[in-house]
Amino acid sequence: MSEGMKTQVGLSKSFQDYFLIGAAVNHRTIVSQSELLRQHYNSITAENEMKFESLHPEENGYAFEQADRIAGFARDNGMKLRGHTLVWHNQTPSWVFEDGNGGLAGRELLLARMKSHIETVVERYKDIIYCWDVVNEAVTDSGEESLRPSKWLHGIGEDYIEQAFRFAHEADPKALLFYNDYNECNPGKREKIYSLAKSLLENGTPIHGIGLQAHWSLYDPALDLIREAIERYASLGLKLQVTEMDVSVFAFDDKRTDLTEPTAEMMRLQEERFKQFFDLFREYKDVLTSVTFWGAADDYTWLDHFPVRGRKNWPLLFDTNQQPKTVIQLLMGQ
Ligand code: GLA
Repeated sequence: MSEGMKTQVGLSKSFQDYFLIGAAVNHRTIVSQSELLRQHYNSITAENEMKFESLHPEENGYAFEQADRIAGFARDNGMKLRGHTLVWHNQTPSWVFEDGNGGLAGRELLLARMKSHIETVVERYKDIIYCWDVVNEAVTDSGEESLRPSKWLHGIGEDYIEQAFRFAHEADPKALLFYNDYNECNPGKREKIYSLAKSLLENGTPIHGIGLQAHWSLYDPALDLIREAIERYASLGLKLQVTEMDVSVFAFDDKRTDLTEPTAEMMRLQEERFKQFFDLFREYKDVLTSVTFWGAADDYTWLDHFPVRGRKNWPLLFDTNQQPKTVIQLLMGQ
């Protein structure tokens, strides 16, 4: 892409009347992508550094260094910071669920641990984190059951979600509190997420928004399903944020490993998709307050390893040289 792009205003600037433009970062990319981040993004999310296992590996020991560095990067550059994530079935150390005597922690112990973790973490970053993904991925993808079987659910019971939101609200009454999930546009799962959020609202739980992870691809989900999901969630009166967007160039069941760069057709389709997504997002600017990508440029993406080990993917708006893909011009030209 031309040098000329560098002198233009950043992506986030051109969307300033619509929503924040964010990227997930880690302790390496805040260095390797710092210039790009500063130019084009006005919000960041820690990819892993604020998860339970990163911050709180042992019961009596927190490890804040890497998370602090990310918070510092946001402060130094006047960026917004999304907190990700307080309660999740993944990336949570096993000590949380154990009683120390070879058995499982009971409800009261688990709730006490959840509360103390949430208080410590939320209070530490309350000057810079304006919103938290309080609970991540609590809903099942398919089947009759609504809540995913997890150690949190088994140990505490169905109210673990509500409790997490209450603890977070107590720790920082100003923070906006989100429920965050993937496959969020799939109609079956969408209805489960909708019902969960609705029941939380009905019993007075301090929930302010729903995070649509948006791990999408060239093929899925269809645009009308995205619109339906936005409409449905917004009908609850909650704010929405796109929290982890990437647009894989491979269909989910495509296992090809032969490409060293994306095909022209893939880039054409991706451009079309990004254009459609942003046209749609703009329509919903009153409810959609932030669009965060799960990475800043194709030189680093978690999809290089998932779901096909070692296969490169090109799911973001900037290429492997951190240069804007052509779609950026279309998006910024609005
Ligand atoms: C989920 C989580 C993220 C991240 C991605 C994969 O979407 O919410 O924190 O782990 O999976 O990278």
